[in-house]
Amino acid sequence: MISEQAKQQIDTWVAKYPAGCQSSAVMEALKIVQAENDGSLTSELIQAVADYLEMPVISVHEVATFYENYNHKPVGKYVIRFCHNISCMLNGADDLISYLETKTGVKTGEVSEDGLVSVKKVECLGACVGAPMFQIGDQYYENLTQQKIDEILDGLRSEVK
Ligand code: FES
Repeated sequence: MISEQAKQQIDTWVAKYPAGCQSSAVMEALKIVQAENDGSLTSELIQAVADYLEMPVISVHEVATFYENYNHKPVGKYVIRFCHNISCMLNGADDLISYLETKTGVKTGEVSEDGLVSVKKVECLGACVGAPMFQIGDQYYENLTQQKIDEILDGLRSEVK
């Protein structure tokens, strides 16, 4: 269920902690396993991570369901994590989320018909000075406007052509 390549990646994180503290790598392990399974986690994958790290499955489940960066249903190739916390909200996030939903044809929590994007509303991503903002992968996009969103979406579409 967890590929050998993913196990090697997890092992590099486990090695950063003292012997017997492999559970400290659980967040990275979930991230790695999620990435190799089309961006979402199933109960079976959570169980596999628990087995691999020799942790109670409930502990892994708690981590996987507490943090917003883990997905529990299918997502698009690109997950747009739009901050709707106070700074972003005061700078127009709600209107821009509506605009993004219209442009992509998906409501938050859904996947576009072409599988390209899904949109999630998330809490503060620590980039309030650049509000309104969203995150795709490891990249932050700040000071968003409708025009910037159009350009970003065009960029994503051209990446998959
Ligand atoms: S409120 Fe949006 S990044 Fe902090």
